[in-house]
Amino acid sequence: MMKKLHRAALVSSTLATCFVASAQAGPMVWASMGEDAYRLLRRAGAQLEQVEPHSVAIQAPAADGRVGTRNESVYLMQVDEEALPRLSHEVHENLKKCGGFMLHTSRAEGRKVVAQFRDAAAKQANQPAGVSYGIDDQAEVNALMPQLQESNIRSTIVKLSTEYKNRYYTTTGGVGSSNDLLTTWKQLAAGRDDVTVKQFTHPSWPQKSVILTIKGTTNPGKIVVIGGHLDSTIGWTNENSIAPGADDDASGIATLQEVMRVLLSSNYKPRRTLQFMAYAAEEVGLKGSQGIAADYQSKGKKVVGVLQLDMTNYQGAASDITMITDYTNSAQNKFLKDLAAHYMPSYNVNESRCGYACSDHASWTNRGFVASFPFEAPMGDDNPYIHTPNDTISKSGNNANHALKFAKLALAYAVELGSDGPAPKADTK
Ligand code: BES
Ligand code: ZN
Repeated sequence: MMKKLHRAALVSSTLATCFVASAQAGPMVWASMGEDAYRLLRRAGAQLEQVEPHSVAIQAPAADGRVGTRNESVYLMQVDEEALPRLSHEVHENLKKCGGFMLHTSRAEGRKVVAQFRDAAAKQANQPAGVSYGIDDQAEVNALMPQLQESNIRSTIVKLSTEYKNRYYTTTGGVGSSNDLLTTWKQLAAGRDDVTVKQFTHPSWPQKSVILTIKGTTNPGKIVVIGGHLDSTIGWTNENSIAPGADDDASGIATLQEVMRVLLSSNYKPRRTLQFMAYAAEEVGLKGSQGIAADYQSKGKKVVGVLQLDMTNYQGAASDITMITDYTNSAQNKFLKDLAAHYMPSYNVNESRCGYACSDHASWTNRGFVASFPFEAPMGDDNPYIHTPNDTISKSGNNANHALKFAKLALAYAVELGSDGPAPKADTK
């Protein structure tokens, strides 16, 4: 219930920028939009004035899957207000998105927004060069993947969702679950001097994020991040609230912890640095991941890719993995789909949109990093019990079969992107 209210409020505030602003403006209003929406508007015969095309460089995948830069046009113009409801209908029908156009109070404000968009796109273009999405580590992936165990994921979900009343960012359960995770991850890392486990302290609340780092052998300056959020909520959460958060998001933490366990126990050594992150305070506005992404950006850390695991264990539809297409990087999304097709060919992979910055991947995307978010089900078929005391593993049949699929995908991602190209050829002599 809380979940529905909270999410509805967020979605309608996004829609409000599409509709309410137009009601307040005069008969001709300032708007900006991309090529597709502009074409729809022209085709609809809308009255347009003072049209200004602006060129924005965006990152997009080329035919070979590599990320390249291409220019897109954004049009700033005055449009008759009456055309807008029609445009938003057309955009929804034909482009399946709300963000097809934006309204502005003046030309100056419109130009400012276009400039901000250009800056954000430029940040994306700052991705470290030399990231290729080849699939060339089959021997390693095929040796490691069968070691992933559903029972381990299941027991981590059960532990996290039953040992604390909740894992909210201000409560003893929130703080305790972070400290316990630190201990568990340190145990998994025991005996490896290339692995560190640390808490990331956030200045404004007590729950800490937890980060396990496997240092890259030949390219340690390049970082691959796999994350999920540790906190749970039922909306107005306090010390005694029951917020098990088994799916949201003990499932994501359990999934990435199993990947970490397999890599560490098999003594796998990535050539790039791998970081596993359990974010604090996601449920209160992505606060923990925002703190970390801002810190990494300010330090100029070269993060080559980010994978978000949030809700992996409720199969609400026939599909196995749903790639979220908004606030994510389409080239890396394609890489993940290719990995699934290659290593898990029987899986049904499809696409959906959140419609808003719904999880920690958006914190990275907003700082110009490449992030993806494979999700448990198409939007609307996802777990209806999240953010309630009923988000327990019983709603997933008391098993972690669905989450195991995401562990396989994350393991393939960790090895293929963490390996920085094919292994050097063995000496033939
Ligand atoms: N796991 C959810 C996000 C989610 C829910 C994605 C359902 C897809 C389907 C996440 O923990 C969450 O609750 N996010 C908030 C927004 C955030 C900015 C506080 C939400 O969706 O209300
Ligand atoms: Zn949530």
